[in-house]
Amino acid sequence: MTRITVRTLHSTYDVIVERGCLENAAAHVDFVAHGRKLFIVTTEPVWRHQGSRLVEGLKGIPFARIEMPDGEEHKRFPTVEALAGRMLEAGADRSSLVLAFGGGVVNDAGGFLAAIYMRGIDVIQAPTTLLAQVDAAIGGKTGVNLKEGKNLLGAFHQPKLVLVDPAALDTLPVREFRAGLYEVIKCAVIRSRPLFDLLDKSRDAVLHRAPEVVDALIEGAVRIKAEVVSADEREGDLRRILNFGHTLGHALEAETGYRRLLHGEAVAFGMRAATRLAEKAALLAPGDSTAIQALVGGYGPIPSLNGVRAENLLSRMGSDKKTVGGRAHFVLPDGIGHAQVVSGLDPELVRAAAEEALAATA
Ligand SMILES: NC(=O)c1ccc[n+]([C@@H]2O[C@H](COP(=O)([O-])OP(=O)(O)OC[C@H]3O[C@@H](n4cnc5c(N)ncnc54)[C@H](O)[C@@H]3O)[C@@H](O)[C@H]2O)c1
Ligand SMILES: [Zn+2]
Repeated sequence: MTRITVRTLHSTYDVIVERGCLENAAAHVDFVAHGRKLFIVTTEPVWRHQGSRLVEGLKGIPFARIEMPDGEEHKRFPTVEALAGRMLEAGADRSSLVLAFGGGVVNDAGGFLAAIYMRGIDVIQAPTTLLAQVDAAIGGKTGVNLKEGKNLLGAFHQPKLVLVDPAALDTLPVREFRAGLYEVIKCAVIRSRPLFDLLDKSRDAVLHRAPEVVDALIEGAVRIKAEVVSADEREGDLRRILNFGHTLGHALEAETGYRRLLHGEAVAFGMRAATRLAEKAALLAPGDSTAIQALVGGYGPIPSLNGVRAENLLSRMGSDKKTVGGRAHFVLPDGIGHAQVVSGLDPELVRAAAEEALAATA
C-alpha cells in the first residue's frame, strides 16, 4: 500500500493507492467516518461494474446509496440539488459523510454536493477512472457546468481521504483508459523524467494494463498532483503547470462541441501543439520535442481532427476561464520533466504550432 499525503493550508489528507483497496475499504473509511452516516454518491454503470467490490469492502458499515445519472451532461446544478434532496430524505445531517464513487463527473458533482450541503460536510473520494484517480479526485476542486461553460460553478473542498484502487480500471472502456493515460503523460513531461521513461519503455504493458506498471504510473502521477497541490492549493504558478496541454486542449474541446473528443484526447492534441510551440520559442531542444511528441503519438491515435481550424482555436483561447487579463498562458516544457508558464507569446507562433499539430492528427 502506498500512502501519499496532501498538505494544503487548511487540511491534510491521505491518498491511498492500493490494488484491492476497495475490498478493504472499511479499514480506511472507518478511520474517517467514526460511525457517522455514510452516503455513497455514484452512477448506475459504476455501481454495476464496481459496486459489489465496495460493498464487500465496507464489511457491513451501513450506507445509503444515492445515484446520479451518468455522463458529463448531468454534471449540472439541478443534479446536485436533486442529490441534496435525496440526502435530506435519507436523514443526512451536518455530521454525515459523502463517499463519491465514480469517475471525475461523480468526484466533481459529489464533492460539490458535500461542499455546500448544510454549508459543507466531509467527503471521501473514491475515483474509478484513470483520469479521476490521477487528477479529478485530488486537489479539492469541485463543481458543475453551466450551459455557458464547464466548471463555472464550484468550490474548493478538500476530501478527508482519497481511495485509489487501480483494479477498478479493469472494467474501464479502452478509450477512457487511454484518455486517462494522457494526463499521466502530462505529469511526466512537466515533472518526472523517470515517469516519462517508464511510459516510453513499457508502452505495450501499459496498454495491456499490466498491474505492476499501471500501479507504478498511477502512483507516480498521484505523487506529482499531490506535491503540486500541496505547495499551491489554488491557481498559482506551480499549480498552473498542471495545465500543460490544456490551453489549446480546452479550446479544441469547446470547438468540437465537447462531443468528438474525450478530455484527455483534447489534452493530447494540446500537448503536441504546446511542445511544438516550446520548440519554436527556443525553450525546448528539438530532440526533446521529438521525444515528447513521439510519446504522446505512441499512445494514440486520437479521433481525426479533420475540419478543425487553428484560427478558431486561437479565438476560443481568449474566452477560456484560465485566461488572466485577456492573455493566454501556456505551460511549455523546457526539458523532459520540467515546464514553465509563459504568457505574451507571439500569436503567429501559436497559430503555426496549432496548425502543425492539427496537420499531424488530421
Ligand atoms: N476537479 C478536478 O480537479 C478535475 C480534474 C480533471 C477533470 N475533472 C473533471 O472530470 C470529469 C471527467 O472525468 P472522467 O474522465 O472520469 O469521466 P466520467 O466521470 O464521465 O467517466 C467516464 C465514463 O466511465 C464510466 N466508468 C467510470 N468508472 C468505471 C469503471 N471502473 N468501469 C467501467 N466504467 C466506468 C462512467 O460511468 C462514465 O460513463 C470532467 O467533468 C472534468 O471536468 C476534474
Ligand atoms: Zn485535464
